[in-house]
Amino acid sequence: MAFAVSKRNAIMAFLVTLLLVVSVPLSSSTLQQDFMQCLVDNSDISFPITASFFSPDQNATLFKEELESTAQNLRYLTPSNPKPVFIFEPLYETHVQAAVVCAKKLQLHLRVRSGGHDYEGLSFVSENETPFVIVDLSKLRQIDVDLDSNSAWAHAGATIGEVYYRIQEKSQTHGFPAGLCSSLGVGGHLVGGAYGSMMRKFGLGADNVLDARIVDANGKILDRAAMGEDVFWAIRGGGGGSFGVILAWKIKLVPVPAIVTVFTVTKTLEQDGTKVLYKWQQVADKLDEDLFIRVIIQTAGKTTKTGNRTISTSYQGQFLGDSNRLLQVMQKSFPELGLTKKDCVEMSWIKSVMYIAGFPNSAAPEALLDGKSLFKNHFKAKSDFVKEPIPVEGLEGLWKKLLQEDSPLTIWNPYGGMMARIAESEIPFPHRNGTLFKIQWLTTWSDGKASEAKHMKWMREMYSYMEKYVSKNPRAAYVNYRDLDLGVNEEESDAREWGSKYFKGNFERLVKIKGEFDPENLFRHEQSIPTKIG
Ligand SMILES: Cc1cc2nc3c(=O)[nH]c(=O)nc-3n(C[C@H](O)[C@H](O)[C@H](O)COP(=O)(O)OP(=O)(O)OC[C@H]3O[C@@H](n4cnc5c(N)ncnc54)[C@H](O)[C@@H]3O)c2cc1C
Ligand SMILES: *[C@@H]1O[C@H](CO)[C@@H](O)[C@H](O)[C@H]1NC(C)=O
Ligand SMILES: *[C@@H]1O[C@H](CO)[C@@H](O)[C@H](O)[C@H]1NC(C)=O
Ligand SMILES: *[C@@H]1O[C@H](CO)[C@@H](O)[C@H](O)[C@H]1NC(C)=O
Repeated sequence: MAFAVSKRNAIMAFLVTLLLVVSVPLSSSTLQQDFMQCLVDNSDISFPITASFFSPDQNATLFKEELESTAQNLRYLTPSNPKPVFIFEPLYETHVQAAVVCAKKLQLHLRVRSGGHDYEGLSFVSENETPFVIVDLSKLRQIDVDLDSNSAWAHAGATIGEVYYRIQEKSQTHGFPAGLCSSLGVGGHLVGGAYGSMMRKFGLGADNVLDARIVDANGKILDRAAMGEDVFWAIRGGGGGSFGVILAWKIKLVPVPAIVTVFTVTKTLEQDGTKVLYKWQQVADKLDEDLFIRVIIQTAGKTTKTGNRTISTSYQGQFLGDSNRLLQVMQKSFPELGLTKKDCVEMSWIKSVMYIAGFPNSAAPEALLDGKSLFKNHFKAKSDFVKEPIPVEGLEGLWKKLLQEDSPLTIWNPYGGMMARIAESEIPFPHRNGTLFKIQWLTTWSDGKASEAKHMKWMREMYSYMEKYVSKNPRAAYVNYRDLDLGVNEEESDAREWGSKYFKGNFERLVKIKGEFDPENLFRHEQSIPTKIG
């Protein structure tokens, strides 16, 4: 290091004093100063410490910008949501280690944020435990792709879009099977499973993790060998914020063809939408594994006095091959969709990723480096897994529900293929063989608190209507579609409830590992894995 330790400490002490003098001595700034001093005492690297902190006392505008930067669900950015005392943005892994040590020492409640996409804002809001601070990993985003070993190390603060970009930069025939939305943070995404358009061929992102680096509750960095196979199992699907701070993942690359075909075909109810969807439910999990067809279902048209708003079902496909073979596959397995050559667009894998992520066709791959979300609003979401096709009358009832809501959206993702061949206990993500597809339920709005109660009520009623058509005992859910309606840890019986929905029989093993690895429950939130269950 350039500075001797004592000299560095003197400089830090000076900076800290400077801060004391220039800022209003609120209790929050005292907390920040204690934390900064602790970081200096516990970190080897000299760094512009003030520039890594964002607090309302320092610069309220900048603090707000940083807080909102990656926060995806605006429902958690209203004035009434508690705000962190400060945001700390580590530049080096050692800063993360020191932050964990200091949060523990000062008993400051910690939230960790990578990409900020948590559905319930758990990475940037703590509703019940205050004061709290955010450690935001957005400046730890290095990605190293190594084709020789067919793998890459990706730091937690990178987006999944950047990972895809860095892979295609080195090879057009390598890819990675994770999320569809390019702005997801690698840190919070892979820790909950991470599905995407290649899941039917290669499984989840978490199924393709080879190693990881995690900071434990003592501030130690552990790799796979050091953390042991139990913890390595738990962090591949057990959900974010429970075991430690993931610094980086080592992922396995998968082969992709030079030509990939995409398409979107839309059917409204007037175009036999219900019948086609009924058929899709029967074939989607059995199609050729190179083919992924998800269905995006929305309301369409304007509500008028004649009331002819309809439902649109858009079949969005990615095929790992050219359009000729795709048309053969479709002719054989799903002719009802009526896919034609002119619906098909051939492109590179990276362009197909961007197509599904919602970029305009003209966007260059470099747009993936922006890391910006294409979609931010107030929303409530839920998930379901389906094991038997929903009958036509069930679908018709669902259309009635959707037509009651302003901006409902539901996305149905096919399973089968590799997803059915991986055992339920292989990683904590248990939704495998026997699952036909997963449903994501969403409703969005733009007027903040004004209409929130109405939309939340609609969502809960719709979810209750669907109960008889989806998985039972438990009614399963996807942990990366975090849903606090399923229960929070304040009630001990609740943990069993949400735990079995997200993890089925894997929950007890997660609890056991948590109890051993983080017995003091340093890493916790409303739905973190508890250290024990009664
Ligand atoms: C628009 C949108 C599209 C999505 N699309 C998909 C999809 O295609 N496939 C899919 O599987 N999921 C998808 N998701 C869900 C997504 O996988 C989860 O929201 C995921 O948790 C996001 O990770 P993040 O780092 O962006 O989130 P964050 O909000 O930063 O973190 C999520 C959780 O993980 C914790 N956490 C964050 N970083 C770390 C870390 N480094 N170590 C330990 N814990 C950490 C946080 O504290 C929080 O509890 C989507 C979500 C959105 C909003
Ligand atoms: C606070 O931050 C904003 C936004 O980055 C910046 O424009 C402004 O100059 C800063 N104010 C001060 C006093 O530094
Ligand atoms: C809705 O009604 C108008 C007026 O009757 C008609 O022109 C239009 O085609 C209808 N749209 C749908 C989707 O049925
Ligand atoms: C999946 O389950 C079905 C029965 O539900 C069984 O016939 C089949 O062998 C299972 N497949 C695998 C790969 O385990």
